[in-house]
Amino acid sequence: MSKSPVDALVAARKSGHGLPAGFYHDAEIFERDLQQIFLAGWQYAGHVSQLPKIGDYLLFEMAGESVIVVRSEAGYRALLNVCRHRGSRICQQQQGQAKRLVCPYHGWSYALSGELLAAAELSDEVDRSRLGLKRVALDEIEGLLFINFAAKPSPFRILRHRMGGALKAHGLADLKVAHSIDYSINANWKLAVENYCECYHCRPSHKAYSKGHQLAVPRDQWLEGQAQANQLAKASGFSQMVDGTWLNAPKAGLECQYAHYPLVNGHVTGSEDGQPVAPLIGSLQAPVALATDFQLGPNLFGLIYSDHAVLYRFLPVSVAETVCQVSWLVRAGAREGQDYALPKLIWLWDTTTREDKTIIEQNQLGVSSRYYRPGPFTSMEVFASRFVDWYLARLDGQNHDVIAGR
Ligand code: FES
Ligand SMILES: [Fe+2]
Repeated sequence: MSKSPVDALVAARKSGHGLPAGFYHDAEIFERDLQQIFLAGWQYAGHVSQLPKIGDYLLFEMAGESVIVVRSEAGYRALLNVCRHRGSRICQQQQGQAKRLVCPYHGWSYALSGELLAAAELSDEVDRSRLGLKRVALDEIEGLLFINFAAKPSPFRILRHRMGGALKAHGLADLKVAHSIDYSINANWKLAVENYCECYHCRPSHKAYSKGHQLAVPRDQWLEGQAQANQLAKASGFSQMVDGTWLNAPKAGLECQYAHYPLVNGHVTGSEDGQPVAPLIGSLQAPVALATDFQLGPNLFGLIYSDHAVLYRFLPVSVAETVCQVSWLVRAGAREGQDYALPKLIWLWDTTTREDKTIIEQNQLGVSSRYYRPGPFTSMEVFASRFVDWYLARLDGQNHDVIAGR
């Protein structure tokens, strides 16, 4: 039997090397990515602080799909933003407040929990109870809301079990989103995630970041720093490392990791001068020169400092377009202008993300050359290399449950 073009591309990948070019621009592969990864896994939709009142909603948008994440009387709900009459989008604003969800086209109205309430002139013979908005699975870990399009989503409790305790110590549920920026990157989502997974590029590409973060060093130095960071973390009441990322995930879609690394050169947080930019978070009494790195699912990454947290979410738009949403979170009661200044809070990761956007887009242009052949990963790109191995296994539909419990 002859191989499909996708199988041929999978077979063409040399172990320890990057992906062949087709993975970054082939439409068939992109559709498989959506089906096997994004529509099958848990997606970070927002933080509970963004929906403080009943009727508050925000939209989750990815590759043409739109979901209304709303706080109803009965709790948080994720509803497909597709009218059950003739399919119009219902909510158009990225964030809002509503008593009912009313379709702008012909006026059908739905309760916040999705039931159809009114549809003028609709025959009484039609069973309205079957015409509620379609629900999408929703779950929560430490204030972070996740949704899942799959009919049978992978059990979120596994993620909560592995990561809940570690994240709780940082008080994530008691933060608020102070600011959020969507960076549109003209590149395939995998180039963006590969880039996030390695700091080999940090020294040449991120001067500001490298000043205070120990990650931008060779692997042996990095391991030494980790031991030091674990001591600091222990003294601060934080958990030790959790490693369930990529091929160690207990189930597909539940990739996670949690680790610490030290801040250097007198820096105690991720800011321009390394000094605090917001009130301390969690139960810390003084800043600790520590960065805590975590991952929930394949495309949500986070960084927690003593005074704020930064979330990174990568969502595909099309085969060569990705939205990288960066959110800055501070203690819930902190007041802008008094307890923190936005420009100072966002400076480092806004600067770093703009730099990343440029290098990722240059990478996309390079891999689109007909002469591009993937080169070898170095020892500073272990996580990017593991990501590529995981990706190919996932695309191939391999069952990750066989390594459950590791
Ligand atoms: S499409 Fe929504 S009311 Fe007609
Ligand atoms: Fe970077």
